[in-house]
Amino acid sequence: MQWLLVTDLDNTLVGDEAALHTLNQRLTVARAEKHITLVYSTGRSLTSYRQLCKTASLLPPDLLIASVGTEIYPQGSDHLDTTWANQLQHQWDQALVQQIAAQFDSLVPQVETEQRPFKVSYFLSKAIAPQVIAELSAALEQAGLSTQLIYSGGQDLDILPKAANKGNAMAFVQGQLGIAAPQTIACGDSGNDIALFTGAENRGIIVGNAQPELLHWHSQTPSPYRYLARATYAAGILEGLHYFGVGL
Ligand code: GLC
Ligand code: MG
Repeated sequence: MQWLLVTDLDNTLVGDEAALHTLNQRLTVARAEKHITLVYSTGRSLTSYRQLCKTASLLPPDLLIASVGTEIYPQGSDHLDTTWANQLQHQWDQALVQQIAAQFDSLVPQVETEQRPFKVSYFLSKAIAPQVIAELSAALEQAGLSTQLIYSGGQDLDILPKAANKGNAMAFVQGQLGIAAPQTIACGDSGNDIALFTGAENRGIIVGNAQPELLHWHSQTPSPYRYLARATYAAGILEGLHYFGVGL
């Protein structure tokens, strides 16, 4: 059986060094036997991903999905998949998005490396998030922009083109690799991972340390194909892989 494993990094794969080490060892064997294709799907930009690689022991993935599904990098390459990028242009104007968001005092821009051609990111306090998100989304729509707002970790707000998110990028990659949803397992812990869990037949693993926004969504939107692990971080991924019968 050939599996596609798509995993978020921060607080999903990364967070428990010992568990990551164990999972890495098993994945290395499974990849050598061609049982698993490994894809990382992170909110981080390529620059920020490279910083993480200096501190966490990450295996080089077969493919990297960065900046919340807005950028796809073939193995080890710095060059964007332009077919994917070209699909995101529709009704998207980064400068206009930033101009509209600047009218909201409660939005604090994230560092420059995380502002990407198809992703504009802010910090936003949890207490006021629902109201600000509703007002901002109305303002963006009124300007004729086709965007989606994604709130993660009770602090990060990403504005993306409607066609882009981790789930849509994963579907694009599934098409490229020719791996079907029942052979795909996605893993995550926070709001920007919800899109990984919406595809009808994809298998999903939510790690035991997941954020309230993901746990809340999971309880409202149950699926027999989604597993909520008891264990945290990489140990939660291993627990879920067992549950789905992936022999590692
Ligand atoms: C990563 C990115 C940040 C984004 C967050 C949530 O931390 O660096 O820009 O807002 O993920 O998606
Ligand atoms: Mg995460």
